[in-house]
Amino acid sequence: MTTPSGLLQVMIGAARKAGRRLARDFGEVQELQVSKKGPSDFVTAADLKAEEILLEELTKARPGYGFLGEERGLVEGTDKTHTWVVDPLDGTTNFLHGLPHFAINIALERDKQIVAAVTFNPATDELFWAERGKGAFLGQERRLRVAARRQLGDALLATGIPFAGKPGHAQFLKELHQISQRVAGVRRFGSAALDMAYVAAGRFDGYWERDLKAWDVAAGWLLITEAGGTVSRIDGSAFGLEDAPSVLASNAELHPLVLERLKAAAG
Ligand code: IPD
Ligand code: CA
Ligand code: CA
Repeated sequence: MTTPSGLLQVMIGAARKAGRRLARDFGEVQELQVSKKGPSDFVTAADLKAEEILLEELTKARPGYGFLGEERGLVEGTDKTHTWVVDPLDGTTNFLHGLPHFAINIALERDKQIVAAVTFNPATDELFWAERGKGAFLGQERRLRVAARRQLGDALLATGIPFAGKPGHAQFLKELHQISQRVAGVRRFGSAALDMAYVAAGRFDGYWERDLKAWDVAAGWLLITEAGGTVSRIDGSAFGLEDAPSVLASNAELHPLVLERLKAAAG
């Protein structure tokens, strides 16, 4: 049994509180599917409410830290070295359609490094967390390690398919063409946060996606590195949260093999 630090307990407490609210709203959304108007306004309200709870809980515990949330942007704090990076609802389209695959994503950035991370799916009650230098965990029982598969032919990869309003549709098809013919399977589950947590947990052997936001990937970056995996940009360069980050994550052995395919798709 692993006990999270005081800092992690603050993050987990906030995630659980916002998660209770999201889970209640998710039940409601399932009812709204058949209504004429559809649940989208309701989901926007649920998203905003979850972010409000997270801002309130995190700020109460650590006054002064900055807060970068998807819905409200950056709320500057007096402590310029610490910023929470938060997606209150990752996997909105799943949530909207009554699919129980979405997450609350919280990371703490200290001097440009992510030092703590929580990814929580309130629908399944799975809580992934990590602290820099201390490892990545699922709940209190399971230490996470990335999968050990070394061959592309055995690998199950996750990705994100661009949707209406996003760039990169043609590029995505080239990448899929390069990759799908060589791997055991490709999945599009609809939550970048959970895609990354699943790589950390060894469920997916790898994950690639373009044009993400800091709050989609900050927590997963730490989860995967603490689980022994490698995270880079899609071109293989050093990972960072700035400018619509792209991600390629896997174990160290598969990383160059997937990278080679992505480079072939770019060329
Ligand atoms: C989205 C999800 C999705 C990814 C999109 C993200 P949202 O986040 O993570 O898997 O493909 O790029 O924007 O909108 O559900 O918070
Ligand atoms: Ca997101
Ligand atoms: Ca979101």
